[in-house]
Amino acid sequence: PPSDDTLLALPKAELHLHIEGTLEPDLAFELAGRNGVELPYASVEELAAQYDFSDLQSFLDLYYATMAVLRTEDDFAELTRRYLRTAAAQGVRHAELFFDPQAHVARGVPIEAVIDGIGGALAEAERDLGVSGGLILCFLRDQPVESADAVLTAALTRPERLLGVGLDSAEVGYPPELFAGVFARAKDAGLHAVAHAGEEGPPSYIVQALDLLGVERVDHGIRAAEDPELMARLAADGIPLTVCPLSNVRLRTVPDLSAHPLLRLDAAGVRVTVNSDDPAYFGGYVGDNYLAIRDALGVTAEQAERFARTSIDASFAPTARKAELQ
Ligand code: HPA
Ligand code: ZN
Repeated sequence: PPSDDTLLALPKAELHLHIEGTLEPDLAFELAGRNGVELPYASVEELAAQYDFSDLQSFLDLYYATMAVLRTEDDFAELTRRYLRTAAAQGVRHAELFFDPQAHVARGVPIEAVIDGIGGALAEAERDLGVSGGLILCFLRDQPVESADAVLTAALTRPERLLGVGLDSAEVGYPPELFAGVFARAKDAGLHAVAHAGEEGPPSYIVQALDLLGVERVDHGIRAAEDPELMARLAADGIPLTVCPLSNVRLRTVPDLSAHPLLRLDAAGVRVTVNSDDPAYFGGYVGDNYLAIRDALGVTAEQAERFARTSIDASFAPTARKAELQ
């Protein structure tokens, strides 16, 4: 089996990472103190002890509550700086960061502070760490589509580091079709499109994301493994999946890692990438996900190299940057 060092050193792109999901308990308390925000937990240990989830919603409740400590441009910059430093140490050379502006604007944080904070840290990382990247604005699918429309309009005033749009938050009951209009508008503005689909939701949500949103990658997408016809379509069309193994275990989308469909998808010819989703909450950064799938699924050096190569290939980096990274 490939060594830890081999797996961590593989040059990778991280394509499924919620920047708010990199908020570690110690930074949450530091920012709470600095900003005068009260967390409903007495200590770092007590907060960390809450990280035991029964499903996606139980995680989202804590995720939205804890991000209340993020208030200023500097907070978002510090959060992003810390993530990029850790990711770079695990082989990440390009990072496309999801962010949830509706969750910040609703708390009175200006979208400019969010975008400039994250974007500033990305610019620094490009210079200091050799990590390239950009932002993917995620619409909250459990909020009204009018709110998604408003946040897209606001974000388009700061298009510099905006690569695309995505769709996240509670999935079941909020099918992709609800967002066809706002995705069409984002694509008209020249943005890429991705969406979470088939994490907890059925394979039909993956089909909708492809047919009605025109997504170029599917986030999670693991429930495609239940539908041979859909796997064949993903393979034939070269649609990458951004798979997050440790997340799927922590949110009980799969019973345990040894039952994860990652290798079945790969064997069906689907383009698989490995990512961390919300690493502060799910027990590891992207390199840790590689180590875990080696240990639980027997992923070989050749398979791991293919996943890493696919991640760079499936990224929205310019062609010249991809060539440099391969
Ligand atoms: N799924 C859906 N929405 C999310 C997630 C996730 O894993 N993480 C942050 N928002
Ligand atoms: Zn996600």
